[in-house]
Amino acid sequence: MPEDDGKHHKALLRALNGDVAAPPPIWLMRQAGRYLPEYRELRSRAESFLDFCFTPDLAMEATLQPIRRYGFDAAILFSDILVVPHALGQKVWFEEGRGPRLDALREAADVDRLTGENLCTVLAPVYQTVRDVCENLPPDVALIGFAGAPWTVATYMIEGASSRDFALAKGWMKAEPQSFARLMDLLVGATADHLIAQADAGAEVLQIFDSWAGALTGEDLQRWSVASLRDLVKRVKTAHPGVPIIVFPRGVGDMYGAFAEDCGADAVSLDSTVPLAWAKRALQPRIAVQGNLDPQVLVAGGSDLETACREILGCLADGPFIFNLGHGILPETPLENVSRLVKIVRGWQP
Ligand code: CP3
Repeated sequence: MPEDDGKHHKALLRALNGDVAAPPPIWLMRQAGRYLPEYRELRSRAESFLDFCFTPDLAMEATLQPIRRYGFDAAILFSDILVVPHALGQKVWFEEGRGPRLDALREAADVDRLTGENLCTVLAPVYQTVRDVCENLPPDVALIGFAGAPWTVATYMIEGASSRDFALAKGWMKAEPQSFARLMDLLVGATADHLIAQADAGAEVLQIFDSWAGALTGEDLQRWSVASLRDLVKRVKTAHPGVPIIVFPRGVGDMYGAFAEDCGADAVSLDSTVPLAWAKRALQPRIAVQGNLDPQVLVAGGSDLETACREILGCLADGPFIFNLGHGILPETPLENVSRLVKIVRGWQP
């Protein structure tokens, strides 16, 4: 470890600053969650999932659990992307085994009833959790705050649940472009406030999850994903120029190039379908990359896990790189496969 020369001493921050490291830093999307027995025990102590997110003692503990077990280079705040619609005044709840449910927006008047005025008050327990985690984090571990991208959050607000085809959200976009644009503007502002408040409270990195960007194409993808992320990143950077931002536009194929170029982010998180050689050539010269092990390969383990990790490391780790999955860790992931993964990455030599 070098002397404190003003450079970052946390591996994740160094990678986001463009530095190359062997081995690279590692953390996993959704690393706090149901694959951990200690998470399931903790979760059973709260009435509802939102209560869990809004109880700083529990949310701090869930944030720290994967750090204690695996020693990842980053902790991600325990919360959810759907706390933002909740704070805007929409009813949000989580059904056991069925995922999120919302009292779906149906018409323009429903959009006009939402307000971002109380957001930072309603979400005060989340920012308290950030402060508490900062006090209890090992010194070499970075804390990541996060939010959903406006488009991804809008899909849940309009569909009222997870969707396969986004028929209602896309239908609204086409039939009523003005009220759709009002909803997206509201989300850009509210999401910026939420990310800025997390950074104010001590989050050192911010990740924006556009998990359903891949459902959009052409002009719609440009306007409602690329351009709204650019607007969001700009607002957050104005308040916190020193806080690096990772964007995760899942499923956009070679449009990853547009996100790397136009969003103003510090890194892009790659889903598992992005070809490694293309990412190395087309993305990594411009921006740090994160990813992209297939979560199913982590479930399977064995020699396929070794091979897949070595391919990723061999291709991307000689540039600015953060090892991660291509999407969230699956609840059925065996604990020992995660230990194995950390060993493979930490033992890697070019
Ligand atoms: O460990 C972490 O990454 C921190 C916490 C975190 C959660 N959700 C906790 C959670 C993060 C970063 C998220 C992001 C999130 N939430 C996304 C974007 C990432 C992605 O997976 O695409 C999305 C789309 C959501 C919305 C959401 N929340 C869904 C679709 C579900 C149900 C599906 C599921 O995985 O259960 C949730 C619930 C949720 N959020 C759980 C957790 C740990 C499981 C619920 C429980 O434990 O009771």
